[in-house]
Amino acid sequence: MGETEAARDGGDGMRDPRPGEAEAGGGTVHGMAVKPQQRDLIVFEEVSKVYPMGEVEVVALRDVNLAIGEGEFIVILGPSGSGKTTLLNLVGGMDTVTSGRLTVNGRDISRLDTRGLTEYRRTQIGFIFQFFNLIPTLTALENVEFALDLVSENERGKAREALEMVGLAERADHFPSQLSGGEQQRVAIARAICKSPPILLCDEPTGELDYETGKTVLGVMQRINREKGQTIILVTHNSAIAEMANRTVRLHSGEVAEILEVKNPRDAEELVW
Ligand SMILES: Nc1ncnc2c1ncn2[C@@H]1O[C@H](COP(=O)(O)OP(=O)(O)OP(=O)(O)O)[C@@H](O)[C@H]1O
Ligand SMILES: [Mg+2]
Repeated sequence: MGETEAARDGGDGMRDPRPGEAEAGGGTVHGMAVKPQQRDLIVFEEVSKVYPMGEVEVVALRDVNLAIGEGEFIVILGPSGSGKTTLLNLVGGMDTVTSGRLTVNGRDISRLDTRGLTEYRRTQIGFIFQFFNLIPTLTALENVEFALDLVSENERGKAREALEMVGLAERADHFPSQLSGGEQQRVAIARAICKSPPILLCDEPTGELDYETGKTVLGVMQRINREKGQTIILVTHNSAIAEMANRTVRLHSGEVAEILEVKNPRDAEELVW
């Protein structure tokens, strides 16, 4: 992947402590420009996830330490069964940790009860899946509106805005069967972003798409990340996609095997695979 280097994370997956990290804003240290400091938004501390399966236990994640900054675009790589979806589901409040601590925005989400988790998911998280998961009997616009709590005129405006953001304003009245795969995935993205959740979780979002369509979808995500500052965690098998991230996390058998910083993330259109 060329433009990566061993990250500051120093092997244990944790970032260096950052004095005064709550305040963003660049500056100079000994005359050298330093990057604006990002606030840590998602912090895994010694997180393990174990699924009991009858007599045996499956360790899906083991002692994960990882801090993800606000506005970062993180790509998670790793072979099948390495724990990628498990990690995403923990952040998304779809599953709870077995041990360790997972904080989001300073809140320990491992301690939330069912109601707390529902509220957390509703306000903080947007999910984008491999198989779009659109409702076939609703139009593109209705699918996006479906994610909104109460479809007032104002909310309806938000759904249209989200469709515009993904370049599908003209397809608002099409049903999923009248849309291409890439268009369907863009509707799913619009649905995930229409409430402007601070965190977008994407599990193999281009897994079902051809090359060009996949790149278009990735371009949309990159724009959302850059323009709206949403934090994105994207799971993929495709290591070429890693080049558009700020950092990549490689999982192996449930453990963080490597964290790399991408010095100059590429534009989605420049990716080649
Ligand atoms: N609900 C569950 N019950 C039992 N074991 C599970 C459960 N979910 C996941 N696992 C196991 O945990 C491990 C990690 O699964 P996970 O789905 O996170 O992998 P993944 O990296 O997303 O794989 P893939 O690339 O195939 O989607 C696997 O060994 C899997 O079989
Ligand atoms: Mg998976």
